[in-house]
Amino acid sequence: MGKILVTGGLGYIGCHTTVELLGKGIEVVVVDNLSNTTIDVKNRIEKIAGKSFPFYEIDVCNTEKLKEVFASENITGIIHFAAFKAVGESVENPILYYRNNIEGLISLLECVKEYNVPNIVFSSSCTVYGDTKESPITEEHPIVQAISPYGTTKIVGEQILFDFANVSSTKVVSLRYFNPVGAHSSSLIGELPIGIPNNLIPYVTQTAAGIREKLTIFGNDYNTPDGTNIRDFIHVVDLAKAHVKAIDFADNHSFKVEVFNLGTGKGTSVSEVVDTFEKVNSLSLNHIYGPRRAGDVEQIWADATKANEILGWKAEISLEEMLRTAWDWQQTLKD
Ligand code: UD1
Repeated sequence: MGKILVTGGLGYIGCHTTVELLGKGIEVVVVDNLSNTTIDVKNRIEKIAGKSFPFYEIDVCNTEKLKEVFASENITGIIHFAAFKAVGESVENPILYYRNNIEGLISLLECVKEYNVPNIVFSSSCTVYGDTKESPITEEHPIVQAISPYGTTKIVGEQILFDFANVSSTKVVSLRYFNPVGAHSSSLIGELPIGIPNNLIPYVTQTAAGIREKLTIFGNDYNTPDGTNIRDFIHVVDLAKAHVKAIDFADNHSFKVEVFNLGTGKGTSVSEVVDTFEKVNSLSLNHIYGPRRAGDVEQIWADATKANEILGWKAEISLEEMLRTAWDWQQTLKD
């Protein structure tokens, strides 16, 4: 398979993917600017995998530095995670998001072009489907106007890649994630919280740990069975495994562009998450119902049939395990 460059390889999804790649005996090179992680994650990945790998502390926007990596490593495929991902922050500071996520991708593609890299796997999101009412949702669903600048960077990022694939020999796989949660079973890696979490699961685990006073469930008057939003939560290790399948697929098939939904295919409500979290971890979570959060989609879950059939991938880890590993990981963190 050759050497795979993982950008953002020390981030939340990146580090779990690096573990899976190394576990399959695939050579990995990681580039990360450490803007949302620490160097210690490299040691932790190596501890789990029992192998080391080359690491470059580089911002992907720095094309000259990035080119040096391509010049010294024989990169045969890329998994591109390096990007900002906080929806609210992107609304506050859109320019930051466009510069980092779009400029970073263009910078990377300049290297791909110069070094003729045969394939690239892109981190996309179900946010490209916008405020849809149709679930389960397939890849055929139209791409609509994004709800946030973060979402726009995913829609535009995909378009840039598709345009590039059209005029080059590079194959593009775009993976549209639903809601990645949980942590590695070793509790050595997981999501590193910075500031007050926006996402549900880190807020839940920090509340259980006493770092936050209570969880506010944003709205219980939605048109869903229990009135709360429905999402497709997927364990980060299942998601990581899909990247290994995607890179292998790109290596062995002839195509220009492929898009895959990555979810379990099952919708779970926010209330069900709280109940399950309490049950599997034998604790009680201080929570209240509050007003709806602006920009939230009522309900969305994946039709992951295409990834099941074409990539030969299926999410296997249960909601219980997602919430158990998330709590185990939280307990290893100092507040
Ligand atoms: C959002 C983005 C998604 C992105 C993800 C990661 C959209 C439509 N979705 O997902 O693309 O990949 O963030 O940042 O832009 N909730 C509470 N209380 C809380 C926190 C969350 O009730 O304190 C609820 C939310 O209202 C929502 C659910 O939990 O219904 C999940 O929220 P969250 O974890 O933030 O993810 P999404 O908004 O689904």
